[in-house]
Amino acid sequence: MAATILLLTSLSISGQGDSAWSCQEGWPCQLALASHNPVFLDCPSAQHSSISWHFLNLSVENSSFVPFINSSGLIEGDLKLKDPQTSDSGIFLCQDGDRLLAYFETDFQDALQLHVSHAVLDQNTRPLEMVALDDGRELEMYTHWSGWQACDRCDAEGERRRLGFCYARLLRGSDVPGEPEPLPCGLMRVKLGAHSVPALSRGPELRIETCMETCRGVPAAGIDKEIPILLKDTFLAQLREPVELRCPRASVYNPVYWKRDDTILTLLQLLTLNGTHSLDRVTGGAIYRISHAFPSDAGTYRCYANRTETGIFLVKLWRGKRKHADQTFPFFKHIILITVVIFNALTLATICSYMGRNKESG
Ligand SMILES: *[C@@H]1O[C@H](CO)[C@@H](O)[C@H](O)[C@H]1NC(C)=O
Ligand SMILES: *[C@@H]1O[C@H](CO)[C@@H](O)[C@H](O)[C@H]1NC(C)=O
Ligand SMILES: *[C@@H]1O[C@H](CO)[C@@H](O)[C@H](O)[C@H]1NC(C)=O
Ligand SMILES: *[C@@H]1O[C@H](CO)[C@@H](O)[C@H](O)[C@H]1NC(C)=O
Ligand SMILES: *[C@@H]1O[C@H](CO)[C@@H](O)[C@H](O)[C@H]1NC(C)=O
Repeated sequence: MAATILLLTSLSISGQGDSAWSCQEGWPCQLALASHNPVFLDCPSAQHSSISWHFLNLSVENSSFVPFINSSGLIEGDLKLKDPQTSDSGIFLCQDGDRLLAYFETDFQDALQLHVSHAVLDQNTRPLEMVALDDGRELEMYTHWSGWQACDRCDAEGERRRLGFCYARLLRGSDVPGEPEPLPCGLMRVKLGAHSVPALSRGPELRIETCMETCRGVPAAGIDKEIPILLKDTFLAQLREPVELRCPRASVYNPVYWKRDDTILTLLQLLTLNGTHSLDRVTGGAIYRISHAFPSDAGTYRCYANRTETGIFLVKLWRGKRKHADQTFPFFKHIILITVVIFNALTLATICSYMGRNKESG
């Protein structure tokens, strides 16, 4: 396999996740990524027709490569994972016939444990942690930060954020001489004998701060390999029921902000207000939630992913009767109907017997 890997020409990752040290030309690429956020894996110099992806599942002991997907589900040879889970961590490789084009060792870290901290709120990032192994060796577990994303808007005060992933470094007793190379925590766990270090995991992190950027040139387009999208949707909310608006193209990997009618909402507001409005953390704000809707929540909500408007949601309050009210009404109607029928029957019976008695006596 090593010989084949050396033949790799170039590798590119669509600016998602983090490949701190190991992503170089001609070598396998180790990637830390966030679960529950869509991701693209690039297959460089792919000739559309004969591309196939293979997968080795690292969650399964002694597993081997299995065919994963072929051309039909691919966009220009690239693999899109719509909703990756932590159990999808493993080795993905892209082949053109027998030729190896890309080799990714992916660690999908648990976004349900995403730690969000805002600089303005003086919130801390996660501290470095030490992990002792059974054999006396020691590991350092820390957050490795990716670069700052672009400011979510321009020519106005906005917010920007950076993603951090769990990395681990062997401190003592490493079999590799010299400075041991850090690895994403999940890959380190596998390297050290899979399930022997259950403590070696913590979720990714998202750090937010305010920013100011001047607008220049045309606004950034959507993901280059996907068609532009603008979703328009009407959401009929029931009184006191939850509302969930999903912003297309938004994820932890790119900037997103929301507008309610003409008011721009900030992550700071949505993180600190104790109201019913909040943003989903797992996807870094790609989902807008109203815990229970009131008439005052009606309005137009817009979202901007990568500074491009990708969603317009018209939230209306559904003013129909509530369900249980609908059910109680027919129930009472039936009782009234039955009462009337019984009453009529009794009256009729009384009249009949009365008339009968009259006939007898007459
Ligand atoms: C995995 O392979 C090792 C070495 O061949 C073997 O000892 C072990 O039992 C295997 N585990 C499973 C679950 O098959
Ligand atoms: C690849 O495509 C062929 C033909 O459509 C199909 O039979 C096969 O199951 C596919 N393989 C995978 C892994 O999707
Ligand atoms: C990998 O294995 C786990 C555990 O068996 C499973 O839940 C998961 O779906 C597998 N992932 C893929 C991509 O097949
Ligand atoms: C966001 O815009 C930048 C700049 O145009 C582009 O490089 C990047 O691919 C875009 N990312 C997404 C996820 O749309
Ligand atoms: C929100 O609630 C928390 C805990 O209940 C409280 O400490 C905090 O001050 C509240 N924030 C606002 C803006 O009301």
